[in-house]
Amino acid sequence: MLDVAPELAQILELARAQRPDPQGWSLVADVDWLAGCYYASGSARLLQPLPGGGLGGCAVVSPPRSGESQMAAASSMLRPGREGLWAAQLAWIEEYIVASGAEAARIVSECLNDSEQQRWKAAGYRLVFEELAMERDLSGGIDAPSRWPDGTTLIEWGNDAASASFDVYQAAFRDRPGFPGWSRSEWIERVCGDRDFAPDASLCVLLDGVPAGFVVCDRGWVDQVGVTPEHRRGLATALVNEATSRMRADGIRTARLHVNTNNPRALATWRRLGWHVSGRRGRFERESTQVVPRIP
Ligand SMILES: CC(C)(COP(=O)(O)OP(=O)(O)OC[C@H]1O[C@@H](n2cnc3c(N)ncnc32)[C@H](O)[C@@H]1OP(=O)(O)O)[C@@H](O)C(=O)NCCC(=O)NCCS
Repeated sequence: MLDVAPELAQILELARAQRPDPQGWSLVADVDWLAGCYYASGSARLLQPLPGGGLGGCAVVSPPRSGESQMAAASSMLRPGREGLWAAQLAWIEEYIVASGAEAARIVSECLNDSEQQRWKAAGYRLVFEELAMERDLSGGIDAPSRWPDGTTLIEWGNDAASASFDVYQAAFRDRPGFPGWSRSEWIERVCGDRDFAPDASLCVLLDGVPAGFVVCDRGWVDQVGVTPEHRRGLATALVNEATSRMRADGIRTARLHVNTNNPRALATWRRLGWHVSGRRGRFERESTQVVPRIP
C-alpha cells in the first residue's frame, strides 16, 4: 500500500505556509481534512515541487460522486510568491475536470484570500458561498454569568432539548438563504451525529414554557445558534456565553465558529461577544466544464 505520509506532510506544510497567520487554525491545516480531501477515492493530485524542496503548489480533483449531480470537486493551494505556478495548476485542474465527465465543477477553498478569489473569477467561476472563520480566546479570565430573561427554563441536552431545538431551528432559520428544510430526525442526526458533538455545551431555552433559543456545540466549536424572531433581545448572547463558559471549564482554550458573510446580524452578535475573524472559506461553481479561452 502506498505510504502517503511524506506527501501529506508536504501538503500540510504548504497549507500552513499559505495562511495569513501560519500558526493560526484553518480546516485546510487540519491533517484529517487534508487527507480526506487529497486522498479521496478516485481523486487525482498534482504536486508542484520547488527546486530547493517543499511544494510551490498542489491541487486535487475528485470526480462526481455516483448518484449525485454531475459536479466534480477541486481544491488547490499556492505558496505566497509562487503565483507563477497558477497557469500550469489551472490547466491541470481543467484537464482533469473535463476528463472526469462532469457537467459542472465546484472549487472548495478553506483558506480563501482576495488573490485566490480573483484567480477563480478570471477562470469563469462564481463565488456561491462564503463564510468567515471566527475564534475567541478562552485562555484567560472568566466569563460573567449569562443574564437570562425572566421566565427562562434551561434544558440540558437530551431528547427533549433536541426536539424543542428543532422547533426553534425551523422558526429561526426558515428565512435564511438556502434553508434546507430537513425533517426533525435529519436535523437531529446532522447536529448531534458528529463524533465531536459536545452535549455538555449544547442547550435549549424555553421562555414561559415555549422553545425560544438553542445552541449546539462540537468540542471547541459553536456549531449552530438560533433564536425565534420574537425573542431576539439578547438571548443568543446568553446562550453563547453559557456555551463558551462550559467549554472553558472543560479546559478548551480557543472556541471557533463559521459564520456566513451574508449574516450581518449574527456577525454583530459574535463581534459584541469578543470574537474575531481568523480566516475565510468559500465555494466557487461553474456550470460548464468548458475551458475559458485565455487572452494571450
Ligand atoms: C443570529 C441570532 C442567533 C442572534 O440572536 P439574538 O438573540 O438577536 O442576538 P443577541 O444576543 O446579539 O441580541 C441582539 C439584539 O438584542 C439586543 N439586546 C442585547 N442584550 C439585551 C438585553 N439584555 N435586553 C434587551 N435587548 C438586548 C441587542 O442590542 C440587539 O438588538 P439589535 O439587533 O436591535 O441591535 C438570531 O438573529 C437568529 O436566530 N438568526 C437566524 C439564525 C442564524 O443566523 N444563526 C446564526 C448562524 S449559526
